[in-house]
Amino acid sequence: MNDIVNRRICFAQRPSGQPTADVFAIAVNEVALPSDGQILCRNLLVSVDPYLRLKMHDRESYTPPLEIGKQIPGGTIAQVVSSRHDDWKAGDLVAIPGGWQNYAVVPGKSATRVDTERAPLEAWLGPLGMTGYTAYAGLLSMGHPKAGETIIVSAAAGAVGSLAGQIGKALGCRVVGIAGSDTKCKTVVETFGFDACIDYRSSTFEDDLRAASPDGYDIYFDNVGGQISFSVQKQMKLFGRIIVCGLISQYSGQNDLDPKSLDEYMRWILVRRLAIRGFIVSDLARNHPEFHETVAGWLKNGQVRLETTLYYGFDQIIPAFLAMLEGRNTGKSIIRIAEAA
Ligand SMILES: NC(=O)c1ccc[n+]([C@@H]2O[C@H](COP(=O)([O-])OP(=O)(O)OC[C@H]3O[C@@H](n4cnc5c(N)ncnc54)[C@H](OP(=O)(O)O)[C@@H]3O)[C@@H](O)[C@H]2O)c1
Repeated sequence: MNDIVNRRICFAQRPSGQPTADVFAIAVNEVALPSDGQILCRNLLVSVDPYLRLKMHDRESYTPPLEIGKQIPGGTIAQVVSSRHDDWKAGDLVAIPGGWQNYAVVPGKSATRVDTERAPLEAWLGPLGMTGYTAYAGLLSMGHPKAGETIIVSAAAGAVGSLAGQIGKALGCRVVGIAGSDTKCKTVVETFGFDACIDYRSSTFEDDLRAASPDGYDIYFDNVGGQISFSVQKQMKLFGRIIVCGLISQYSGQNDLDPKSLDEYMRWILVRRLAIRGFIVSDLARNHPEFHETVAGWLKNGQVRLETTLYYGFDQIIPAFLAMLEGRNTGKSIIRIAEAA
């Protein structure tokens, strides 16, 4: 022990429906010193991500359920306090699986270097982090976009969606977004440079989808699932590709589809000869060694923007997570809990 007091956010109870703050509890402990191969880090920036809602269910998924009482995991940008790993020394800035806490002891091999000369700290949780890689590798490895094709992206104002669309544009595609309000749609077009954006809450949603690309869509980068995706599926071109990145509209146990719609869903797969492929970002970890250089270049020349919903202070981690699930964010949701020394 080294007298450093650590505040941690733990999982207190499984929510039913949309989570609230009482799903979490705060615990305090003394930070352990790192063992051989480990580093002790101070978290500076904390990421909140939708997959955590999936982990709150006690059921099989691609990621094991959270256990009651256990620390909430998550990506962080951190500064090394002390190191027992040859690659790292005190003061280094790193991206780590640091979790919702002030300090983390992690294997040195789980850390990646953060280069603030290349891009600001926040970018390493956004375009240059897991979020950016999900958009980049998901679109390229699963969608195989070609210049001139039309891509439609759901949750287009959010972290992954806004990047998937901007990457599509950088590759020479036409890109249409779907988002939850007029204001978000305006941001998607004016800030993220999409060609059009459709409000899924509008009563004319299906007509608007058709009007935005009368010939249909080649690729659907799906972040939401449910009724929105069912509507998009019918607008796909022959041999269209659907990339299932996430199903956030279903994570809290909602089901907005009529049970009969599965038959309809299957029918449209056949009618349009669609390829539908799910992926998890870790599946694609080795596919794109060029990722950092390419996206850092796009950030520099303005083809990709660093857009964040920023919060300040440890106490804002839980509110930021709940706000993101409710759509009260644009771009990547990040909480700054400390400054670099
Ligand atoms: N496959 C992978 O490896 C991988 C990795 C990372 C993320 N993901 C997935 O990617 C998706 C986006 O994640 P993110 O981190 O970028 O989050 P995000 O888009 O920044 O935030 C979530 C957004 O989801 C939208 N949303 C929430 N409830 C909705 C509903 N019922 N219907 C439609 N939209 C809803 C909200 O936007 P609106 O205001 O527009 O509703 C909200 O802003 C999630 O499904 C996530 O699980 C997958």
